[in-house]
Amino acid sequence: MTATSRLARLVAKLPPKVQTTVDRWLEIATLFGEIKDPKVARSLGPAGIRGLVLQRGKQGTPSLFQASHQAYFDWSYPADQPEMAELYGRAKRGQWDGDSLAWNTSVDPLDVEKPLIPDKFFDFSILERNGIRLDETEKRQFRADITAWMLSQFLHGEQGALMAAAQVTEAVQFFDGKLYGATQVVDEGRHVEVFHRYLDTKLEKLYQVNDNLFVIIDALMVDSRWDMKFLGMQIMVEGLALGAFGTLYKITREPLLKQLLKMVIQDEARHVHYGVLALREHIKNELGDAERKEREDWSFEVALLMRNRFMAYEVYEEWFEGRLPRAQWREFVTRAPGMEEFRHVMFSRLVPNLREIGLLSPRIQRRYDEVGLMKYFDGRSADQLSGDQMLAELDSTNGGLVALAG
Ligand SMILES: [Fe+2]
Ligand SMILES: [Fe+2]
Repeated sequence: MTATSRLARLVAKLPPKVQTTVDRWLEIATLFGEIKDPKVARSLGPAGIRGLVLQRGKQGTPSLFQASHQAYFDWSYPADQPEMAELYGRAKRGQWDGDSLAWNTSVDPLDVEKPLIPDKFFDFSILERNGIRLDETEKRQFRADITAWMLSQFLHGEQGALMAAAQVTEAVQFFDGKLYGATQVVDEGRHVEVFHRYLDTKLEKLYQVNDNLFVIIDALMVDSRWDMKFLGMQIMVEGLALGAFGTLYKITREPLLKQLLKMVIQDEARHVHYGVLALREHIKNELGDAERKEREDWSFEVALLMRNRFMAYEVYEEWFEGRLPRAQWREFVTRAPGMEEFRHVMFSRLVPNLREIGLLSPRIQRRYDEVGLMKYFDGRSADQLSGDQMLAELDSTNGGLVALAG
């Protein structure tokens, strides 16, 4: 018997409440243990303590982060990045008003005809094997809660993106990038507006920020290096969010949510495109090998953090705490067909972008391969894919999502 399985058997003998606490601590310890590069540990460690151990996002008070980047002014106003200038033009023409969405649509989160997410999203037999049987109404309510949880995390992520876009606009050295960045700040403000309005007036529910998301936001806010903010927000968080928005856009039958996501996806495609342009240039021309390696390790750790750890414990605590061990909940979430699809689409968006900006050298490819992510290596990166093309692909009839949505 391995040490892990011996520990698991020991934990299973404890009372449910104690089990939950021990499991949470073990998960944190495993996470810290997985970080191999000391520089990455220094960057994510303090944020990890604040987010995972102290749960600073869950104290019901505003969070204050000490930002320490340098604002970069250029008094000569160079036209330095034609592709960014082109994106700036596209962003100006692509502005829209959050009020213009069909807010008069009446949304019933339990509607059978127009479900928020499909019935097949979860495999409830895993819960049943653990003695938990939900009736049809409860299952619908559960799916509505999971949707509210996902949209709440999108909203919190958008708040992070709003602040990060403002910081990056100050710090970036490309002048065309600053002009473009100003439009992104407006975009992110609008995203906060529409996600919050949907949750507040249609689902009437808001979940607290997930601890893992808090860690990433915290690490980006306090890092003084603009390219780390960029990498974290424009590539990792937005890249994965774009995949998540696309999946939800494809599977939801609720028309207002679909319309909202369609508009947001078009903006986000520009944001990730900008991230790829700025970082490709910077990593290739400005960074030394050690600095590039650090960013390579950092993005791998963050990718894992996001892949393995968005377990919706906030929903677990509400529904099953004390009735179901956390390990079984993780199995239920990880093996949900909908979640598998989310992971698939998210990483098919993210990995090609990491390749394109030069953070997938053969050295790190081995680690991506070990966790099964190398199959996404050859996909199209954000600079080769506009929002319209992305939506057209999502609207087409092929892919595993159809089975899920059908
Ligand atoms: Fe956004
Ligand atoms: Fe964005």
